[in-house]
Amino acid sequence: MSEKAGKVTMEKLVSLCQRRGFVFPSSDIYGGLSGCWDYGPAGIELKRNVKEAWWRSIVQERDDVVGIDSSILMNPRVWEASGHVAGFSDPLVECKNCHLRWRADQLTENKCPACGGELTEPRQFNLMFKTFIGPVEEAAATVYLRPETAQGIFVNFMNIVNTSRKRLPFGVAQIGKSFRNEITTGNFIFRSREFEQMEMEFFVKPGTDGQWLDYWVQERFNWYVKLGIKKENLRRREHGQEELAHYARGCFDIEYLFPMGWSELEGIANRCDFDLKQHMTHSGKSLEYYDDETKEHYLPYIIEPSAGVDRSVLAILCDAYDEETVNDELRVVFHFHPDLAPVKVAVLPLSRKENLAALAKDVYGALRPCFATQYDDTQAIGRRYRRQDELGTPYCVTIDFASLEDNMATIRERDSMNQIRVPIPALKDTLLAKLAGEDLFILPEGGKIWKQEK
Ligand code: GAP
Repeated sequence: MSEKAGKVTMEKLVSLCQRRGFVFPSSDIYGGLSGCWDYGPAGIELKRNVKEAWWRSIVQERDDVVGIDSSILMNPRVWEASGHVAGFSDPLVECKNCHLRWRADQLTENKCPACGGELTEPRQFNLMFKTFIGPVEEAAATVYLRPETAQGIFVNFMNIVNTSRKRLPFGVAQIGKSFRNEITTGNFIFRSREFEQMEMEFFVKPGTDGQWLDYWVQERFNWYVKLGIKKENLRRREHGQEELAHYARGCFDIEYLFPMGWSELEGIANRCDFDLKQHMTHSGKSLEYYDDETKEHYLPYIIEPSAGVDRSVLAILCDAYDEETVNDELRVVFHFHPDLAPVKVAVLPLSRKENLAALAKDVYGALRPCFATQYDDTQAIGRRYRRQDELGTPYCVTIDFASLEDNMATIRERDSMNQIRVPIPALKDTLLAKLAGEDLFILPEGGKIWKQEK
């Protein structure tokens, strides 16, 4: 009945994301703003689900990690200590002919990729956005929009040690916006100027850092697999010696096979004691940890898994996208993991007739408190199934005229398009079980197989 059609391209994805309310260009009616994106009604649910899945696995399900939400604007001395003021820059070149700007280290030839014009000599361009505190725009009032969330964790290290009673090894996690004035943005939400990060700083005793780095690389890789990303589209890549930041002892990227090729999804770095040492020197405050067991004072080493929310969303969209031909028609579907799907269940009355609508609304009302549920009564049922497929909704519940007689409803599974018919009072528990991974054809009492596609 169905066969595979084309594969995902960035063009198809951008267009579907706009059509189904996942992602829009920022300030669209004014022509957009380069490197900035807005998440629509479907996109925000997907993004929230990604962040919740991360928080659940990193904080909620562990005893050794706590959370924090630090401010975006910080004392500018933080960025001097961290090295961002002096060194957070990319080499910029400008075309002498068309004046487009490029990142010199991303060019394969020494000429403008747009017009072939001659380029200026590279100069270092700092990626931090500047703004001003208070009414006077002067150097003394300069502050920066944070380019990473990590520094908010380092500067709170002692606050957390003193208040959370955590002993090494332990971690501090944060999800939040970061800003970088990237010279070139692109590939949709892959590289933008305003984006979100999910970062965790794991503080360990020096000497145990190597094993913790390996541990976190494995943990983080498994997280993506657990969320349904195909293993063959993921890989670990160890940084070569020449690629490592001067303070890092080791670093791995988890890469995803995006439509434009293998690219970084997340970095996991062994940052040694660089950050705490820098902040201790610049602030004059001791950030040393007292080890009750060995009776020593020392600076912990830090293992940092640092992931991009938007890049995770992009990888999930790419991986879940599918096209197939069903009965000579193209079906586009997102096979999202149920935990990530923006809508879990759609309630579809076969017609808008009053008595049918009343029953469907009752069902909708009963399911809403349990799942993200959508009610859709517009257009033919086939069109509505296709719409839900494009949103990646795992299950559709159809209420038809027979439902008025037998008090049963049809559940249609997104991936197989198979259908079962179950008593309405059993809907909630049946859907809960299916969303948790139970086979569709395991039926509740009184249920029956309704349609078997494959
Ligand atoms: N604290 C370490 C740090 O920020 P990074 O490799 O610069 O390391 C970590 O960033 C992650 O943040 C990246 O793997 C990526 O997922 C995301 N990220 C970085 N810059 C980004 C950008 N301009 N747009 C979208 N995501 C970005």
